[in-house]
Amino acid sequence: MRTNLTGIMTPPEIKVFPAPGDVAREAADRIMRIAEEAVALGDRFAVALSGGSTPKLLYEMLAGEPYRSQIDWTKTEVFFADERYVPPDHAESNYRMARETLLGKVPIPGDNVYRISCEDDPDQGAKAYGLALKEKFADGGPDLVLLGMGEDGHTASLFPDTPALDETKHRAVANYVERSTTGKSWRVTMTAPFINRARHVIVLVTGANKARRLAEVLEGPRDPRRLPVQLVQPASGKLTWLIDAAAAGMEAAD
Ligand code: 6PG
Repeated sequence: MRTNLTGIMTPPEIKVFPAPGDVAREAADRIMRIAEEAVALGDRFAVALSGGSTPKLLYEMLAGEPYRSQIDWTKTEVFFADERYVPPDHAESNYRMARETLLGKVPIPGDNVYRISCEDDPDQGAKAYGLALKEKFADGGPDLVLLGMGEDGHTASLFPDTPALDETKHRAVANYVERSTTGKSWRVTMTAPFINRARHVIVLVTGANKARRLAEVLEGPRDPRRLPVQLVQPASGKLTWLIDAAAAGMEAAD
């Protein structure tokens, strides 16, 4: 696949797999390797998870073997790329999804999970999360940020034409979204400049409903106000797109 996402960074790696299960398997294998490398290098593995439906399969896989035993969960620290502004037990909570599919099933100490608190007002929640990220990472970033892409080209909660896209200073901000998968709603999101400090960013995209937008994102002109996922360009880290055939606009293999 040709892409326009070159510029100053290392060109992204784009890999297409027959089905969503293959995408999840590849992501799980890569996560296991990145975790191992990070622990060897710095004695911890810091990963930011995303929400939505795409990563569920991946999280379920990570909770099973060989990943459950191979990843050192005691040295794994989990953050969230974004959160819907709902209580942690709400059906739409990204934290809840991650807990039910992964975090509740692996031996990760509770203190290693840094959820975005949605109990105060969104700006307070974003400020508190930003401070936690600052304390943890100072001027650096996580070992890995996992992202998805919405049908409209958003990623994390960086939605088209929203103020969060202009943020240059903060690590996390609140973002009010008029049109999202959860309707009009408040979100808290990592900002693009912070995501771009990660050592690895993996974007998972599956499903034919994403095909047109994905082609625009990867092959069309740069237009990040309309296609915010184009803001994801790690400064010195590695960007990988793992895509299924349907999202790549190819016929799925039988
Ligand atoms: C969220 C996400 C979001 C998601 C995309 C794709 O909270 O909704 O973190 O950015 O990754 O919307 O969502 P699907 O996987 O459900 O298509």
